Amino acid sequence: MTDTGTTDTGTTDTGTTGARTTGARTTDAGTTDVAVAGGGLIGLAVAWRAAQRGLSVTVVDDAPGTGASEAAAGMLAPVTEAAYGEEALLRLCLASVQRWPAFAAELEAASGTPVGLRTAGTLVVGFDADDVAALDALHAYQCELGLVAERLTPSATRRREPALTPRLRGGLAVDGDHSVDGRALHRALLTAAQAAGVRVVPQRVAELLVADGRAAGLRLADGSVLAASAVVLALGARSGGLPGVPPLPVRPVKGQILRLAGAAGLLSGTVRALVRGRHVYLVPYGEGRLVVGATTEDRGFDATVTAGGVHDLLHDAMEVVPGVSELELVETLARWRPGTPDNAPLLGPCGLPGLVLATGHHRNGVLLTPVTGDVVAGLLADGALPELAAPFTAERFTHR
Ligand code: GLY
Repeated sequence: MTDTGTTDTGTTDTGTTGARTTGARTTDAGTTDVAVAGGGLIGLAVAWRAAQRGLSVTVVDDAPGTGASEAAAGMLAPVTEAAYGEEALLRLCLASVQRWPAFAAELEAASGTPVGLRTAGTLVVGFDADDVAALDALHAYQCELGLVAERLTPSATRRREPALTPRLRGGLAVDGDHSVDGRALHRALLTAAQAAGVRVVPQRVAELLVADGRAAGLRLADGSVLAASAVVLALGARSGGLPGVPPLPVRPVKGQILRLAGAAGLLSGTVRALVRGRHVYLVPYGEGRLVVGATTEDRGFDATVTAGGVHDLLHDAMEVVPGVSELELVETLARWRPGTPDNAPLLGPCGLPGLVLATGHHRNGVLLTPVTGDVVAGLLADGALPELAAPFTAERFTHR
């Protein structure tokens, strides 16, 4: 990739944004092939892969891993997250889940950090007759798509996870849906990316710079300028709000999530449940830890952890696994999934040359981390977006 060689001199034409900043004293933050705005899982995976392809890469983030990545439960769940009308997304999710074992092994070797890949599969359980009817409908849809899922009786379900309530009415085993420890994954990616030569600048991204009708770099919060041949936008739910970025259909979808301790041996794999129509999931990780999630709320960037949210999650988790009541509640957190109108990510080029999207991963950020790193780095290094990602460019929203 050729370098733009552009540096800020204190007078910046922001091109298509129409904004012009004059006279600001700026410090040069350097020049890079690829500037990645956002050091969450997605930004770091892109950075790591791009550096492996020989590009110079700079990630800018004042608090890497404290957005959606911090809240993520770590499910790798293309089958149990499959939803009607989202078959294109499902294909991308399946392509990514296949990459996970090799991705985890490579990342662990590169970083020396275990990412906690669990391959014990996922159980989906239903609590009352309506929940079981929904389970049957989900199973029928999964079978129609050729996905592997086995309908289980209540006793067969409990044989797999004895901590489940005897009151459950039915189950579904999805042996191919796994999980990782999302926070360990972030640590590993940060280490691996830096070991591969990625520079991480601990600054808030203030603005996308545009010159001559193309993305030319980033202005950082201290006023300095990072000049880049290409800019990757990986700011999660905040991607559309960065000054200079063209309008993007990304919105925050709030999720409240809990972490519990003392759960060693309670569950072997992920349990997802429908409890009188409400969804809850329990994901074991680390040394006896359990994530319980998550609410889904359209409330903008509201970070409040509410009494009702915590109550509902704990209530439903205890209905499904009564032993949860004995665990220590160690953390509550609210963050924002980057939602899009069709729940699928925005990958690759957009209307602004030089700006590459890696955002909008909504419920599937952890799952889609490997494939996003591969396809976006492929675009950056080869100049062409791999075919697999073609349905996920922003163009799908401009031609509706
Ligand atoms: N993928 C789980 C969630 O978004 O809550």
